Amino acid sequence: MNIRPRRNRKNSTIRSMIEETRLSVDNLIYPVFVEDGKNIKKELKSLPNQFSWSLDKLLNEIEYCISIGIKSFVLFPVINNQFKDSKASYSYSDDNFYLNVIRVIKDTFPNTCLISDVAMDPYSSDGHDGIYTNGLIHNDETLPILGKMALAQAQAGIDIVGPSDMMDGRVGYIREILDKNNFSDVSIMSYTAKYSSSFYGPFRDVLKSNPKHGDKKEYQMNPSNKREALLEADLDFEEGADFLMVKPALCYLDIIHLLKENFNIPITAYNVSGEYVMTYIASKHGYLDYNSAMSEILISIRRAGADAILSYFAKDFANLISK
Ligand code: PBG
Repeated sequence: MNIRPRRNRKNSTIRSMIEETRLSVDNLIYPVFVEDGKNIKKELKSLPNQFSWSLDKLLNEIEYCISIGIKSFVLFPVINNQFKDSKASYSYSDDNFYLNVIRVIKDTFPNTCLISDVAMDPYSSDGHDGIYTNGLIHNDETLPILGKMALAQAQAGIDIVGPSDMMDGRVGYIREILDKNNFSDVSIMSYTAKYSSSFYGPFRDVLKSNPKHGDKKEYQMNPSNKREALLEADLDFEEGADFLMVKPALCYLDIIHLLKENFNIPITAYNVSGEYVMTYIASKHGYLDYNSAMSEILISIRRAGADAILSYFAKDFANLISK
């Protein structure tokens, strides 16, 4: 045998010398849930060891995250039912607490990167990402709402808006509104290939945003489709997206790879709630080793081509490698 691949694995120095994929905390984006009120740090039943925070407590948490190297956050609002309506009007209202959360975090920690969620579902009494009547989602009627939401977030100081709604044409629509209002520096991280997935279950439970009728298959992608992801990516790129996201991550590593090979802008992947929960629970019950399963999952998403990863593992991973 002339070629023995095992020679290059014979000790840890060689192994790390030739390691092909590296992951640093800089590549991680931590999703956090915020709610209105004071002195709230509530563990989420459907997302164990993740919390929903009021702004005052969240500031301490962000300070801690920064101390372990996490500087990028995606913020999700948990909205009380009384503020939900069919047009998600609270989403861009001046007294939406979420906008204040963005403003205060950005003032307090100017070096953080804050990413928003642009979609109707957290605010919609129908639990859909678009305007819903008589069993139909109205794409073009939804765009102005998304535009107002993105503009309000830009005015509050967001670095990157994150349209997660899958309406056609929303990236271009949002880009135009931001530019017209002198927010050409605000970036768009588009949820480009967002699949209709069972792995969002725990997240919807947290936001109480399960669709009241029907499902999201009319706008989120069919898990069987791959070429369609290229079509979505072409459109988002043409419309001015700065980042293309694939979501979920684990069942869609091929899609991450595909977009990485075909587009020269950063690719991000959302390692979603269900993916976190299955790892966390299996580890709690002794079936998996949490730290090594987490590390393997994150490195696989990066190896597939993700430049940055949104993950509920972010804090645990940062703590692990700081040891
Ligand atoms: C919806 C949205 C969803 C997630 C983020 N934004 C779920 C959905 O489409 O219902 C899921 C994230 C996760 O599961 O961690 N705008």
